[in-house]
Amino acid sequence: MRESEARNFNLAQSLPHDLRYARAQEFVDVVRRLWDSWTQESFLIDRARGILADEAQILPIHHRGQHFSVEGALNVPRRSEAHPVLVQAGASGVGKAFAARNADLIFASVPDFDAARAFTQEMKQAARAAGRNPAHLKVLPGFIPIVGKTLAEAREKKEHMDALLLPTAAIRYLSQWMEVDLAHLDPEAPVPDEILDIDRIKGQKGRFKNILHIARTEKLGLGQLAARVAATRTHTSIVGTGDTIAREMERWVEGGACDGFNILPAFFPDGFDDFTQEVVSRLQERGSFRKDYAGTTLRDHLGLPDR
Ligand SMILES: Cc1cc2nc3c(=O)[nH]c(=O)nc-3n(C[C@H](O)[C@H](O)[C@H](O)COP(=O)(O)O)c2cc1C
Repeated sequence: MRESEARNFNLAQSLPHDLRYARAQEFVDVVRRLWDSWTQESFLIDRARGILADEAQILPIHHRGQHFSVEGALNVPRRSEAHPVLVQAGASGVGKAFAARNADLIFASVPDFDAARAFTQEMKQAARAAGRNPAHLKVLPGFIPIVGKTLAEAREKKEHMDALLLPTAAIRYLSQWMEVDLAHLDPEAPVPDEILDIDRIKGQKGRFKNILHIARTEKLGLGQLAARVAATRTHTSIVGTGDTIAREMERWVEGGACDGFNILPAFFPDGFDDFTQEVVSRLQERGSFRKDYAGTTLRDHLGLPDR
């Protein structure tokens, strides 16, 4: 949470990073208990007697915690045994521990295959250590496909996109993530080491780590780094035909770099059409993607068990 966001939520300043996660954990615990406050047996739906539910089976939770006081029970009935799917994003140390314990799905931000693989393997291991089946914690990195009927067409789209990016706007954007104004620095020179110090960061440490990774592995000057981050938000972007993108996605899944993807098309609304027409159809032909839904809920589509 940035300071500007905190000011929209009744706070003069954001809470300290780790305290935010402690509060988030208590929040998740309370919400899960509220979901469970109506048992499945509480539903009677007895029209003849005019009874919806057995009140004796709707139980207050009497929660008195450090951050929340919630009496319960929930004021609406649950519609299924399963809890809604919990999606988490955030990749600091505490963020990962929080995900390992609570998330069904992680929206990750990873700049390349190796970073994705390291992150996914670490999260599967952390899920195992938290007593969970690692297959039930899905990692879906953001993925920005720039699709063309030919490679030349895809490259042209990417060049068009890059040309639209104002260098000063990109540096302003990077300044937000880096929590410092970078406008006065030389855009040709690398970002100074003291700015690349993660301990300074109060907001998203995970995203900052990605920026560090890109700055160091790709050895970019400030202007190039800003352009890269503004264009991709530190996600992976791939430029190619439907076939090459489909194969690359398969390589990621088969190589243990992720369980699936969170597709973020670069162009709206055409990017969605390009992706479904060129990439999804190719994945289906290759037997890597379903042609129909087997279940009826998001939980089913993700292959997650009831929870
Ligand atoms: C890929 C990604 C997507 C995110 N999307 C959202 C979002 O939609 N809404 C939000 O409030 N925070 C979002 N966040 C922010 C994090 O959930 C949150 O700021 C967290 O505290 C970051 O923590 P970290 O320091 O553990 O990396 C996102 C973070 C990442 C990495």
